[in-house]
Amino acid sequence: MIWGYLKEPFSKYGLAIPIKLGIASYPHALITGASGSGKTQALLFLLGKLLQNIPDIVVYLCDFKNSEDFSFLKGYTHYYTGKDCYQGIMEYYQCFSDTRENGSIKNRSILICDEYPAFVNYLQMQDKQNKTKYATIVLNSVAEILMLGRGINFGIWIVTQRADSTLFSNGARDNFMVIVGLGNLSKEQKGMVFSGQEIPDTRFSAGEGMLLADSKEIMEVKYPMIANVNDWKSHILRILQKQSGG
Ligand SMILES: Nc1ncnc2c1ncn2[C@@H]1O[C@H](COP(=O)(O)OP(=O)(O)OP(=O)(O)O)[C@@H](O)[C@H]1O
Ligand SMILES: [Mg+2]
Repeated sequence: MIWGYLKEPFSKYGLAIPIKLGIASYPHALITGASGSGKTQALLFLLGKLLQNIPDIVVYLCDFKNSEDFSFLKGYTHYYTGKDCYQGIMEYYQCFSDTRENGSIKNRSILICDEYPAFVNYLQMQDKQNKTKYATIVLNSVAEILMLGRGINFGIWIVTQRADSTLFSNGARDNFMVIVGLGNLSKEQKGMVFSGQEIPDTRFSAGEGMLLADSKEIMEVKYPMIANVNDWKSHILRILQKQSGG
């Protein structure tokens, strides 16, 4: 699928040269960047591209912030907001576990979590108050899918403002095959997500940044502003509804 466009030809000449990465080899992705760096817009673009490419992929979308950008999915079976994201992640984990146990792989699936750390923080606060362990359950489930999902076609896209390793149990962060850092990351964040990479000093606007994919050189990426966003959204919804037969 198309993971964005090479920034320079796009910015300089309006040339859209796609960065193509097959989902089978690149099922897990981390999209990070400060507030306003264009993460959610990029996600909307990527979701549309994903469904164009693999119309029968089963999509679980957890939007803790309940942002306007995804409200068009209201009514779709696997769309979760606010505290219901817990249910979304656990249902996904259950499908993943069932598939692992009975060995028969059905449709490719993907779990998309926008603002994942905000959700985990929320759970941690609740856990403190109520002496529960929901945050740990979520962290461990996500870590397990990151480590074992690839072979059975279960992917995860995580969108975060910060990508601290504490969010990913047992070094699970190393399992992201694609990392997109949008906007101008702090030195600390750069070191964390792109460790060992030469990062150019380019200043990025919203929707631009660096993309690192397994076994490829780091690239400068640009996401387009979606021209007709309502059409884009209804196209996404139509594909998802067709799958569930409704
Ligand atoms: N690809 C793009 N090209 C040009 N401008 C963009 C692009 N993506 C986002 N923007 C601009 O940046 C604004 C913020 O984008 P977006 O909501 O996607 O950021 P975000 O990283 O998700 O922020 P937050 O962390 O607050 O959710 C958009 O409203 C738009 O004006
Ligand atoms: Mg956002």
